[in-house]
Amino acid sequence: MSLQRLIELAGGLDNIQRILAPDGRIVVAVSDRHAVCSLPDEVTAESVLGEWQLSIKRDNTIQDEDLALVGRSIAARQQRKAAQYRVARPSHYRPQWHISPPQGLLNDPNGFIYHDGAYHLFYQWYPYSCEHKDKYWVHLTSDDLISWHWQSVALTPSDWFDSHGVFSGHAVSHGDDLMLFYTGNTRLGPDRQRQTMQCAARMNADGQFEKLGPLIRELPPGVTEHIRDPKVAFHQGRWHMLLGAQTESLQGRLAVYHSDDLLNWQFDKLYGDELSPYGYMWECPDWFELGNEWFVVFGPQGIESENLHHNIVHQNRIFRVNQDEQGGFDFIEGWALDEGFDFYAPQSVQTPDGRRVMCGWMGLPDELDQPSCDHGWLHQLTSMRELRWLNGRVLQQPAAELDLLRGETRQVNLNDKPLDLSTKSFELVVTLAWGSELHLMHDDKHKVVLTLDKQQGVLRFDRSQTLIRQGDTIRELVLNSESVTLQILADSSSLEIFINGGEQVMTGRVFTPEHATRISLQGAAVSGRVTLLHSAHAPFVDA
Ligand code: FRU
Repeated sequence: MSLQRLIELAGGLDNIQRILAPDGRIVVAVSDRHAVCSLPDEVTAESVLGEWQLSIKRDNTIQDEDLALVGRSIAARQQRKAAQYRVARPSHYRPQWHISPPQGLLNDPNGFIYHDGAYHLFYQWYPYSCEHKDKYWVHLTSDDLISWHWQSVALTPSDWFDSHGVFSGHAVSHGDDLMLFYTGNTRLGPDRQRQTMQCAARMNADGQFEKLGPLIRELPPGVTEHIRDPKVAFHQGRWHMLLGAQTESLQGRLAVYHSDDLLNWQFDKLYGDELSPYGYMWECPDWFELGNEWFVVFGPQGIESENLHHNIVHQNRIFRVNQDEQGGFDFIEGWALDEGFDFYAPQSVQTPDGRRVMCGWMGLPDELDQPSCDHGWLHQLTSMRELRWLNGRVLQQPAAELDLLRGETRQVNLNDKPLDLSTKSFELVVTLAWGSELHLMHDDKHKVVLTLDKQQGVLRFDRSQTLIRQGDTIRELVLNSESVTLQILADSSSLEIFINGGEQVMTGRVFTPEHATRISLQGAAVSGRVTLLHSAHAPFVDA
């Protein structure tokens, strides 16, 4: 049967909400079952997880370009619908200067790149509810890494190779071209069998993204369908693609491909044997040079934490690697990039003046219920952090651009008498003695407590007395320094704590009531510097 006939039987192009192409078949899911005509025997109809799907055998008259026509029709409708979700619902939890979604769920930052005079940053978005469903990419741009402007919904889950999610990936600026590389995610049949392909898209003269389709359709040997999140970079005369992967024996690895033209890719091999066992899956690789050393960042899932309070399987790591002449590497030594609660899937950009600036997802994969969901949105991105390699350590500090947000600064005395800042958008710089306890974003009932516990030798970040609904409530970090200097960035419902000049960072979402804007200190009184932070231009329309 021709594709045209299937479309007619399905009630026309406008009635098709999904297209899939499992081995040897074409499947279309319809929006309105009643618009489907009576079906000849060659068409199989079944309900798959609430979706009415019609399928036919694929004969060789049906080309990928024909399927792309259906994809474009679905994309146009998805674009129109998603655009309505660009209006932000009012919410006192909403950050004043971090990137958050207007509605729905945000997860990984994607495609972070400097191209043609501007920063481009995308994020994973499910517009319609606070759930992980078929993901879209939102496209934002900025001149200064602080004010972000909504450009478009760049990619929607419209095509046979990505209809259950345009998953994460990176961008490449190549001459005039801005190319996106991402993982197309599909789920086939009633048992939702995952099918994964590595895909690309290119920005056209109107700033819209045209999909180029799947570039890697087959799995590399010994790898499951859990292979995703391409990082593409040019190094030693050719293009490299790093992918997070899982072996058939359920070990996390990086899969590496090479290409001369960004379109045709050859599999090299799996990297990471020397770390094994190191979790059951690695996600979201990044790869860059810092101070003449090479680093790989990824999210190993399922590695054990040494701390009893840490129950989350989704970790974040940066590894210094030994880069060989062919572009292969060995892992040498690694650290957590962030020791707090909410940090995952970071991506970095090289700024025109040569800095490496990173931004992560301030959230984690399994957490879906937080107070902001009552206002229709969930999760946010972290601040922009500059990475440096100094004396054998990776240091992270708020990017210099944060200065654009800084308003009035004052020296404050911190003691047990609460100081009401009347805002939750501020920077606090303070050096604390062991044995002291800093209370933040508090009222009479709620508070975030940062303790320098002398006995245990740890900095404890405790959010158990907040409105948190899911996730761990205590993080502890072993510290050896005599006193501890904290640079804390607060923004409505988050804290990012840069410790001792950025040697460590702890990030967490902290939900307290709107007027819980006090800070105080138990223990030896100290003086701290508080700077109020302005709101940044928000990348959405306010209601
Ligand atoms: C990480 C991740 C990625 C995937 C994306 C889907 O948070 O699971 O591996 O591409 O989210 O939204």
